[in-house]
Amino acid sequence: MGAGKRVLLIIAGGIAAYKALDVIRRGRERGLEFRIILTKGGAEFVTPLSVASLAGSKAYTELFSLTDEAEMGHIRLVREADLVLVAPATADLIAKMAHGLADDLASTALLANDRPVLIAPSMNAVMWQNPAVQANVATLRARGVVTVGPGAGDLACGEVGDGRLAEPLDIVNAALRILGDGPLKGLKALVTSGPTYEAIDPVRFIGNRSSGKQGHAIAEALAAAGAEVTLVAGPTALGDPAGCKTVHIESAAEMLAGALKALPADIFIAAAAVSDWRPAAEAGQKMKKRDGGAPPRIELATNPDILATISAPGPKRPRLVVGFAAETEKVVEHATAKRAKKQCDWILANDVSAATGTFGGADNKVHVITATGAEEWPRLSKTELARRLVAKIAETLKDKAR
Ligand code: CTP
Repeated sequence: MGAGKRVLLIIAGGIAAYKALDVIRRGRERGLEFRIILTKGGAEFVTPLSVASLAGSKAYTELFSLTDEAEMGHIRLVREADLVLVAPATADLIAKMAHGLADDLASTALLANDRPVLIAPSMNAVMWQNPAVQANVATLRARGVVTVGPGAGDLACGEVGDGRLAEPLDIVNAALRILGDGPLKGLKALVTSGPTYEAIDPVRFIGNRSSGKQGHAIAEALAAAGAEVTLVAGPTALGDPAGCKTVHIESAAEMLAGALKALPADIFIAAAAVSDWRPAAEAGQKMKKRDGGAPPRIELATNPDILATISAPGPKRPRLVVGFAAETEKVVEHATAKRAKKQCDWILANDVSAATGTFGGADNKVHVITATGAEEWPRLSKTELARRLVAKIAETLKDKAR
């Protein structure tokens, strides 16, 4: 699987550091090669000797050890890696990464790094929930750092909650996915996400409440599964998802152009809330109120249907086309009709009536409508839903002849 891929594993000082030994063991079983940096704290929990014997290579500890620098400078340590993995990632090291501190070998190597980074946080649950830690993790994610875990359960400190280091095998699998060894390796995916803004004049537009959370989560999950992903994103408050090529657009016309440019693709997921209409003509200057005058009438024109355009039979049609159906009533019935009309393979139907909180919210509940019927999925976080969708895609494409 990971044959010959090199991982620079940074082990920070947390009680879960001993599990890093299992990460090394399981990673090597899958063909990964490890170089190790132990922080000073990390070395309090596992010895350089045990780490080195499992990894089959030296464990580096000190920034200014002349021997280490002569053998392998911190720059070379990162340059020679395909991936940098921090496991366990403590609150302290996460803070150093977010703020660009470089006061030991681990943080200096991370600052000098231009390779993909995967972190497996592990700490006390209250610490994990602390806004400072959450803000630091959000900063890192916005910069493209991928996180695995933490999971929920009994913590070493005796408390229960989120903060457990992800299971070693999950960490190794996350690393393999980033290294392009996931189930969708070799496949190209195109995702649309977010709202579109249709200009009325230079300062006003017609838009909608889509946050882009679901589409962005799908793009990230596809990339994590090894696909080469282009995300065509309308205006959102989100950072670009890790591992994807993100194209930023505003209008439906721009979204269509961006999507067509990304073809051919094997998979197309239309998660954007595309405005059905746009002002027929954009006013060149800001429209003025003109005291006492009647409000302007804005004539609308119909926008192109991106999903229907790309899903139409033809040589460039992706092998799997998935649309969403935002409905406020008769969800399955309307979505089934939409699937047929837009000729897509699957439709994920969700109820977007205000009471469900789906638009802008953190979770989602869908019915997956395929040629064989409707499957009801439980309410899931948008990230979980994305992972489940990607697993279904991988399963389906595995059986389809290429
Ligand atoms: N879609 C699209 N281009 C459009 C409109 C919609 O690609 N111009 C896609 C959406 O990304 C989604 C699917 O079509 O995957 C269905 O979107 P939805 O808003 O539910 O349906 P509409 O086609 O807009 O139909 P209606 O508003 O009548 O429900």
